[in-house]
Amino acid sequence: IRKVRTHHLREMKERGEKITMLTAYDMYTAQTFDEAGIDLLLVGDSASNNVLGNETSLPITVDELLPLTRAVTRSVSRAMVVGDLPFGSYQASPEQGYLTAVRFMKEAGAHAVKLEGGAEMAPVIEKCTRGGIPVMAHIGFTPQSEHTLGGYRVQGRGDASERVLADARAVQEAGAFAVVMEMVPGDVAEQISKELTIPTIGIGAGNGCDGQVLVWQDAFGLRTGRMARFVKQYADVHSVLLEGARAYADDVRSGAFPGTEHTF
Ligand code: KIV
Ligand code: NA
Repeated sequence: IRKVRTHHLREMKERGEKITMLTAYDMYTAQTFDEAGIDLLLVGDSASNNVLGNETSLPITVDELLPLTRAVTRSVSRAMVVGDLPFGSYQASPEQGYLTAVRFMKEAGAHAVKLEGGAEMAPVIEKCTRGGIPVMAHIGFTPQSEHTLGGYRVQGRGDASERVLADARAVQEAGAFAVVMEMVPGDVAEQISKELTIPTIGIGAGNGCDGQVLVWQDAFGLRTGRMARFVKQYADVHSVLLEGARAYADDVRSGAFPGTEHTF
């Protein structure tokens, strides 16, 4: 695959080949993850609480996320770049959703957009898809609805699994090319992945999904502190940066840097 397209993702699902996805919000991470062969890069609204210093994803605006998206699309050659529609930028109407999605495509060069919601978002998904914009849906726990969902909790336990299944069917029917499932019991997510023809991308949804996504600052340990159960840490970037910064400060304070070799 020279450039990841929506049909490649569907073919990967058919072949049982897992799909890889990470967030990215800037040039060098995008270049690095693209070089590593990550299939999908999500410029998540999680930039709100991983880049911009907010506590949640709610405050980030379209105008804040567009330049980050632009940086990522400029920096990849193979990966598909998905722009995440911020809270309040698509829920009012299909027209509002379409116009916001158009900005991600035209102003930031996104290849697709993602939005949160199931059956209730079907009209928005349909409008965007018919208008030439591939849509990735996001069901189960949807962080933008934290306050109506009553906090960060697993969705679809017991009888509630019917609701997640109905949402999955609805977004596929509406034309979504893939669907993120967040914090859904593994057996429910596996069942949904078997039933749907579009790929499912899990985060906290077990190994039965067609692909996986993680926020890179979680996966590679730039963020420290308490991590959700679904996070696996593959690197310790925080320690690397901390040691580097301390060594630099020590050298500057002692006069060891810059040396003659760094001096004109
Ligand atoms: O914004 C984000 O990072 C996300 C993923 C975790 C799915 O929506
Ligand atoms: Na998001």
